[in-house]
Amino acid sequence: MEDNKVYRASTFAPVNIAVIKYWGKRDTKLNLPTNSSLSVTLSQDDLRTHTTASCSASFASDTLTLNGQPQDISTPRTQACLRELRSLRKDLESKNSSLSQLSSLQLKIVSENNFPTAAGLASSAAGFAALVRSIANLYALPASPTELSRIARQGSGSACRSLFGGYVGWNHGSAADGSDSIAYEVAPADHWSDMRAVILVASAEKKDVSSTAGMQATVGTSALFKARAETIVPQRMEEMEEAIRKKDFAAFASLTMRDSNSFHATCLDTDPPIFYMNDTSRAAVRVCQAINETAGRTVCAYTFDAGPNAVVYYLAADEAAVAGTFRGILGEKTGWEGSRGEKVEKAGQVPENI
Ligand code: DP6
Repeated sequence: MEDNKVYRASTFAPVNIAVIKYWGKRDTKLNLPTNSSLSVTLSQDDLRTHTTASCSASFASDTLTLNGQPQDISTPRTQACLRELRSLRKDLESKNSSLSQLSSLQLKIVSENNFPTAAGLASSAAGFAALVRSIANLYALPASPTELSRIARQGSGSACRSLFGGYVGWNHGSAADGSDSIAYEVAPADHWSDMRAVILVASAEKKDVSSTAGMQATVGTSALFKARAETIVPQRMEEMEEAIRKKDFAAFASLTMRDSNSFHATCLDTDPPIFYMNDTSRAAVRVCQAINETAGRTVCAYTFDAGPNAVVYYLAADEAAVAGTFRGILGEKTGWEGSRGEKVEKAGQVPENI
């Protein structure tokens, strides 16, 4: 291997927003969830992380920067991802002696988000998906999105769903090693391509209670949680997959709003209670209700993650009624708008110099 040569690959990964929420882990080390979940991957033209991974004999240690700020790369979650990816590269190198020994080089990972980090806008999902995919590209791993989802899940649970575009499920799985806790495509983006999302930013501040801490507090103390994980979500997963297959927006919307409400109810039922939604969030719920009532049919669906910002899904034909109404109330600058996403792998660049 040439001394000091730099090997590099870049990728984008979009944000995904769950319509059936992941909340609760049965294994905190491997990020194995108590229930399955389902999300829509937004277009990478909208909210996304761009990550470049490089490796070189000239790098003294592994490093990670986000938006120009050095990050702690020694966290167990990041280390789990790096370990898995290096070991896959090592397997390739041991089978093909003409390959450069990239697995033994230090990595430099540079990420940029085009949206506020950790404000309940699924930044960790896009972040770990981009980290895993960029290193997989750098290492020229023949790994499928499914296999990469298993690795990205160990970085952040929701990240496993950002390895696919379109409508994506994440199976809770039952294996102790997490081998079956992987993401899968429910439908590609072009199956229901007129789906749109508008994001209403109530606050771009970092959230008070992280998802990781919040969900385990819920698991430990909420009496509602058991019913949600064991009965409510399994049934909704089936209904949501059917709504997507049939492109039934009214059913999709009803399930989305009810599941968001159910998730926030378990947060409120946590001891001490967790409040992610605020007065602005509740006002957005009321506006959605008013828009649906005025239209005389369901044209929009709200959902809230671990923060106060609303994501509102609607169909392109109802753009004026939904996004137009929110724009009228809030002004142009308040939020991002997005369409549903393309497949992430399209954004992967073929690594050079391998
Ligand atoms: C409310 O994936 O951020 O957005 O696995 O601990 O990193 P960790 O949690 P994270 O939780 C996301 C929770 C959610 C719901 C969802 O995206 O399904």
